[in-house]
Amino acid sequence: MHDRHDTPPAESAARAASEVHQSLMHWIDLDGVEPAGAAALEHLALQFMLHGHQPYEGRRREDVNALEHALQCAHLAELAGAAPALVAAALLHDIGHFEIALDDQVDDRHEDLAADWLAPVFGAAVADPVRLHVAAKRYLVAVDDHYAERLSPASVHSLALQGGAFDRDEIAHFESLPGAQDAVQLRRWDEAAKMTGRLTPPLAHYLGVLADLLRQQAPRLSLA
Ligand SMILES: [Fe+2]
Repeated sequence: MHDRHDTPPAESAARAASEVHQSLMHWIDLDGVEPAGAAALEHLALQFMLHGHQPYEGRRREDVNALEHALQCAHLAELAGAAPALVAAALLHDIGHFEIALDDQVDDRHEDLAADWLAPVFGAAVADPVRLHVAAKRYLVAVDDHYAERLSPASVHSLALQGGAFDRDEIAHFESLPGAQDAVQLRRWDEAAKMTGRLTPPLAHYLGVLADLLRQQAPRLSLA
């Protein structure tokens, strides 16, 4: 019998996947969710279970881990009265980090990785703000004199890797993109969602929000 220190990673991951599969049905109501949508929810729940403990923003540690950051961001969106799709985007905006080996010396383009995965599952209302949440930082630094003061050291570091503040042409282009205003709102919650010990609803609550979105989109998914 293995103790928790010598359990092989593959076995540990398989066990976690099995636990997620078994418990997901108890956490949320999947009635009316297409099988492809239910599989996507299961994948997301597993990703948070496996990677949620990771420090947010790699070696330049923030005060919260990846799951706490995602929950705080979604909660701030909810408290602001955001539409469910934007609450979902807030929860999922950094899932691209889960797929990429941590290296804080390169721009990992985690926003594109996440948005490419999310678009066929949840549609543009979720994927577009996720894709633009890094661009929104470069936009806000350019147009809001006080925004840069609120950036954490990790955000300042990644801003340089991502290209710094937008110039005038880049500002105009960004403002013309679908989802740009949602991305700006998401970005402000993103910066605020790094508070140690802040209470939020649990992940199961937000998996329920995702299930509701998938239920509404079932006809579109079944036609895809
Ligand atoms: Fe974030």
